[in-house]
Amino acid sequence: MTQPEEQDPGPGRTTDESTGVADGGAEGVADAVSCASLSYAFGDTKAVDGLDLAVREGEVFGLLGPNGAGKTTAIRCVTTLLPVPAGKVRVFGHDAAKERMAVRRLLGYVPQQLSADQGLTGRENVALFARVFDVPRRERAARVAQALAADRLAGTYSGGMIRRLELAQALVSAPRLLILDEPTIGLDPIARTGVWEHINAVRAVTGMTVLVTTHYMDEADQYCDRVGLMHRGRIRALGTPAELRRGLAEHQGTDTLPTLEDVFRAIAGSGLDDTSGGGFRDVRSTRRTAHRVG
Ligand SMILES: Nc1ncnc2c1ncn2[C@@H]1O[C@H](COP(=O)(O)OP(=O)(O)OP(=O)(O)O)[C@@H](O)[C@H]1O
Ligand SMILES: [Mg+2]
Repeated sequence: MTQPEEQDPGPGRTTDESTGVADGGAEGVADAVSCASLSYAFGDTKAVDGLDLAVREGEVFGLLGPNGAGKTTAIRCVTTLLPVPAGKVRVFGHDAAKERMAVRRLLGYVPQQLSADQGLTGRENVALFARVFDVPRRERAARVAQALAADRLAGTYSGGMIRRLELAQALVSAPRLLILDEPTIGLDPIARTGVWEHINAVRAVTGMTVLVTTHYMDEADQYCDRVGLMHRGRIRALGTPAELRRGLAEHQGTDTLPTLEDVFRAIAGSGLDDTSGGGFRDVRSTRRTAHRVG
């Protein structure tokens, strides 16, 4: 989706058409991402419900929250893959509803769901990846067999390769904003670190902004400048990981500093949003993703 298929005037810092909505940061510089009262519903399910969010230029922002919180839906509105039915979404000042190509040109996107067909078997998926990797036709059968054996032993190596490939694809257009939806799900600890080191190496050179979702609180704590904890379609807590942890400590009146996971549990309760009507589906879908990545 980093490949534009329409013509437009190209990216710029700000947009001529202005709604007068103040979404800029200091010195009038637009935030990398700005959502104001964003809502998105699937039928009766309010996936995103009045979301206000500002991602500052140059930061790594972690969008956290339980299954079904609305993270992926919100992200897909930011990427223009979903329309913006209510509220306002801007990327570096560009309106995601009105300037879709300008927005798309500014961002790279690694989606939560892999591009592989959900209806394919493991063997068929590996065969598909062999074509993606441009493995010569006559070598494919052997490679597929190898990959399946590798899956049985370790289960994660090809997943790491796939995630690295997707990351490279998302970065090929040198995006000012990289959006990653659970980039490290199903990866082994070494591959997880590798993904983050790769992202940080690019950031060191380009100053790229990163918007990332993860269920790994240790990763969010270590790599995110700020995190927003989303629950039932809205941000319920916002700050640096340290601020949120200190905030919970003060709230609880404890001396020991809670972890970011403690903060997550305090805000999201059991972690499964049963009232969304989609909790079970979400868990299954996440597991499918993890299985396919692994
Ligand atoms: N295509 C769809 N059709 C119907 N409902 C959907 C669809 N996609 C998401 N939903 C519902 O919208 C809500 C938000 O889902 P979303 O995928 O945005 O959550 P999430 O925070 O990304 O969760 P996860 O951590 O499991 O990825 C859930 O209740 C989900 O069941
Ligand atoms: Mg999601």
